[in-house]
This record gives sequence, structure tokens and C-alpha cells, in this order.
Amino acid sequence: MDDEVRSPAPGRARQSEIFRAGASGTRPAVPTGWAALVGAAERTMSQDAWAYVAGAAGRESTAEANYDAFDAWRLVPRMLRDVAERDLSIELFGRRHPTPLLTSAIGVLELVDPDADLAIARAAGSLGITSIVSSQASQPMERIAADGAGPWWFQLYWSSEDALVESFVSRAEAAGAEAILVTLDTGMLGWRPRDLDRAFLPFIRGMGIAQYTSDPVFRELVRARMSRTSNAPRPRVTPAAIRTLVEMTRRYPGPFWQNLRTGEPRVAVETFLDVFSRPSLSWADLPFLRERTRLPIVLKGIQHPDDARRAVDSGVDAVMVSTHGGRQVDGAIGSLDALPGVVEAVEGRLPVLLDSGVRGGADVVRALALGATAVGVGRAWVYGLAISGEDGARQVLRDILAETDLVLGLSGHRTVAEFGPDDVVRL
Ligand code: FNR
Repeated sequence: MDDEVRSPAPGRARQSEIFRAGASGTRPAVPTGWAALVGAAERTMSQDAWAYVAGAAGRESTAEANYDAFDAWRLVPRMLRDVAERDLSIELFGRRHPTPLLTSAIGVLELVDPDADLAIARAAGSLGITSIVSSQASQPMERIAADGAGPWWFQLYWSSEDALVESFVSRAEAAGAEAILVTLDTGMLGWRPRDLDRAFLPFIRGMGIAQYTSDPVFRELVRARMSRTSNAPRPRVTPAAIRTLVEMTRRYPGPFWQNLRTGEPRVAVETFLDVFSRPSLSWADLPFLRERTRLPIVLKGIQHPDDARRAVDSGVDAVMVSTHGGRQVDGAIGSLDALPGVVEAVEGRLPVLLDSGVRGGADVVRALALGATAVGVGRAWVYGLAISGEDGARQVLRDILAETDLVLGLSGHRTVAEFGPDDVVRL
């Protein structure tokens, strides 16, 4: 873990590092402000990648509402409270975490770089930040875990195949995941015009399905399908998909990728499209997961207080308020606006986490003040990664931590726990 994160003042340390480097003519590789970061990332990324990462559902009004909510809740700083010593650490699932940040699950990172999953795991791990590894990652979770050397959770998209759910969860446990985060808001993909207008869905091109192609249960499903459909027409999978999978096989000749039989990549994509999600998922399914893992279970996507109460009753270990970065339901409430109702409903019985719309430390602090225990960052680090690889992702995370530390202290607080709803007002 980076010494600087354990130091009481990552904010001042980071400022001083930047200004000292500036004296010898070096500027930050990645812009430290949000608008410049977004602009630099857009200039770096392919058009397909930019549309997929930056895009959101419908008119993108939920994505905007996420940002607007952060702008509407304002801090009311307190003075003369001796903030010389500060501590950003939090308690979660019986463990002290050095920072209140998580890196949110982002799928199909090969759109940015083939090794991006490894890069973010390393960047987060070096800062003691827990990274959430996606079901739609471009690398098998075992490889990410081995390379990242930091704490991680596994994000589960609940497949229509129970056996695959079970296999993913047991692999995650065996590979050292500290929690299973179930994303509830993606029983179907949201209506995303930027991707629709480009007719671009990465999965159909064989991208972002490495957890599946590396899974023994999934491979059995593929083989069963191959024997069933060897002569059937194959309308849905493009030659590009096959090329992608063959290239992944060449690049990552791990135990699961070896010995792909002729035709398997194509059938793998078809099988994935069939089993990816379970739109029929309901509260009644949760015991299935509870019985199969001893890890903490986090429900991601909770926005309504009644769902938060139901989550408490269902015996899960945390909820995450999230709008999926505005990518699923257009016209929905901004994530930070949903937070107070969920916190109130939960009445301290579970930790409440939040993501969607976090652009910097001042956003992190507002979420903490409104009762979040930890805060997930999504697109921000993806942009850093696009601009400058692992170092770029690390810089974005360090900068968010630095600003969190400075806003914490400048608003009159020494620890995350000192923050409360009295420190914010809604405009
Ligand atoms: C996501 N998100 C996401 N969530 C999830 O549970 N599994 C996934 O595979 C993905 N994949 C994904 C890809 C891309 C390109 C984006 C932008 C988002 C949602 C993600 O975990 C998180 O909820 C949002 O990104 C948070 O919003 P911000 O920080 O991006 O505004």
C-alpha cells in the first residue's frame, strides 16, 4: 500500500508532489479537474469505446441527475476545529479500510486496453482501495486477483443458469474475493442510444465475456450447445467476434483458454447472449445465493426505501445505492438524492454504499455526509486509464483521495465518522 495513503494528509502530499514536479517542468499526466479529464479521455478513446463508456440510457437524464444531485447538496463548512490530523479510514465488513473509496465494476475494459482489468486492480490495490471485479471483465477473475494483489469483490450478474451463478461465486471465493456484489438493475440492458446508433454491442463481438469463457460450467454449456446445433444456421455472431476470441486465446493462453475446439468461440458468444441475465430475478432467489457463499453479499442498485427495508429483511450484508451511472433507467432519481431515504430506511442495520456521478473528492465527502459508508468511483478512473494506463487510473484515484482529504479538513472534520447530515443542506 502506498505510504502516502496511510499518511494523515494525502491532500497536501499530493499538492506538494504536483507543485514540486512543476518546478522542474512536469505537469500531471492526467488532468486533475473533471471537465479536462473528460475532454482528454474522449480525445484518446475510439468512438465505439467513448460511446460505450460515456453513454447512458435514453436522454441521459439520469446520468445528469446523478451530477445534479451532487451539485444540489451543499456542504456547510465548520471553522476553528483543529483539523491538523486527519484520517480517511472506514470500517466495513469487520475490517478497517484505509480509504472510503471503492472502484466500481466496469465491464469490457478491453475497449480501453486489453490489460485494463489488471491495471485497475494494481492501481487500486497499491492504494489499499477495494476493486470490484466485473462479471463482464475482459480477463478471468483469477488472473485479475493474482495480478492485482489488493482486496477485491466480485460483481455478479445473475445468470439464467443457476449452475453458472454457483460456479462464479465459488470461483470468486476460491480466488480470494472479500464480498459478492449482486447488480440488480441489469436484468436487461438499458436503452442506450449512443450504442444503438453505432449498432455497437461489445458482447456480440466477443468482448467482455472472459469470466464466462474461463468457466468450466459455461464451457460445458457451450459444448452441449455445439453438439445440439452443429448444423444449425448461425445468424447472430459476426466474424469480428470470432477474431476477438481467437485473439484473446492467443494472448492469454491460460488453462481455461487452451484447447478451444473449432467453432467454440462463436458458440461461446451465442451461449453468453442466452445466459447473461435473469430478468425474472426476484427476492425469492436471494436465499439461493445466501446458501452458497459465506462472503458478505452486497445488493447494488437499491434506490427505493422499501427495497432497502426488504434488503435488511433478506439477510444481505450491505446495499449500494446506484443508478448504474445512469445507464439503465432514464428519468430516474439521482443516486445521491436516493441516498437519504435508503439510509433512513435501513436505520443503521446495514452499511449503505453509493456510486453514480462521483467526479471528485467533494462528491465523495457529500455522500459520506449523507450516510454512505463507502463510495464507488466508475467512469472517472476509466478516463484516467484511457489517458495514461495504470498510472493514469492511479493518479485519478489519488487525486480523488487528495481532494477528499482536503475537503474533509477544510470543512472542519478530522475523520469520516464525524460527518453527518447537519453538514449538508439541499438547495
Ligand atoms: C458500468 N457499470 C457496471 N456495473 C456492474 O455492476 N457491472 C458491470 O459490468 C458494469 N459495467 C460498466 C461499464 C461501463 C463502461 C460503465 C460506465 C459502467 C456501472 C458501474 O459499476 C457504476 O455503477 C457506475 O459507473 C457509477 O457511475 P459513474 O461513477 O460512472 O458516474
